[in-house]
Amino acid sequence: MKQDDRFLSVAIAAAKEAGRIQKVHFGNTTRVEFKGEVNPVTEVDRLCEKSIVQMIRDAFPDHDVLTEETPFEGRGAPCKWIIDPLDGTTNYLRGYPCFGVSIGLEIEGEMQIGVVYHPILDELFHGENGKGAFLNGNRLHVSRVDTLDRSFLCTGFPYVLREDPDLYLSYFREFAIRSFAIRRPGSAVLDLCYLAAGRFDGFWELRLHAWDVAAGSLIITEAGGKVTDLRGQPFRVFSDEILASNGFVHSEMLRVIEEIHSKQKDEAHRAEDAACR
Ligand code: IPD
Ligand code: CA
Ligand code: CA
Repeated sequence: MKQDDRFLSVAIAAAKEAGRIQKVHFGNTTRVEFKGEVNPVTEVDRLCEKSIVQMIRDAFPDHDVLTEETPFEGRGAPCKWIIDPLDGTTNYLRGYPCFGVSIGLEIEGEMQIGVVYHPILDELFHGENGKGAFLNGNRLHVSRVDTLDRSFLCTGFPYVLREDPDLYLSYFREFAIRSFAIRRPGSAVLDLCYLAAGRFDGFWELRLHAWDVAAGSLIITEAGGKVTDLRGQPFRVFSDEILASNGFVHSEMLRVIEEIHSKQKDEAHRAEDAACR
């Protein structure tokens, strides 16, 4: 087997096994800890992480592995796996069937493989750099909707929403008014894959982590979509903001964000002036 094929087959096997674990425990998760006021982690997050890491380490002992629930101990290896063992933990905990596994492989700083699995619908998304994006083996393409007012958007809120609610809600407000419809599903990795599959047309979020976006961002670009930061600059997996779209509505979404940023600046100036008076 070629090395690339081995990377992909191990990632798929690990995602499916984690998905199996999620399905077995779905509806019966009682043990929960909180990483912050509202950021839950369950025994299933940890079970899935353990299983994925074990499978990857057995296959590729020299690779680095970055996961959500364990502090990173990298050795500066050229190959780095970036894993969210259970994305959508709040949904999972409440029996809301919108969650999944995300496994990405970055080689020399560039994403090469992304695998996302939604066990309840048995939907396996994958993308390989330069080789396309697929859902259960069928090629994926982003939608062709080309105006914001016809766009079906999705987003998410960070666990720190309460620290600066006006900031995070200002994007939601503007896009809710200007789009066709908007959703907040609660699983960023599925949001990204659904965009790749043409189910959504645009997505943005602030304060995400590399494990939320590594696999999904590659799947989107391989499906013909566009991913940048909120200013239209090239996307980096380790930055904490993302704007993703089918490409057709990207500049319109960026213009809305520019307006939001300039309103935010005006308000900050007004607050400074008031404080000086
Ligand atoms: C969360 C989900 C959610 C997003 C949050 C993420 P987790 O991941 O993807 O949709 O809005 O920002 O942290 O904690 O369930 O893995
Ligand atoms: Ca996540
Ligand atoms: Ca998670």
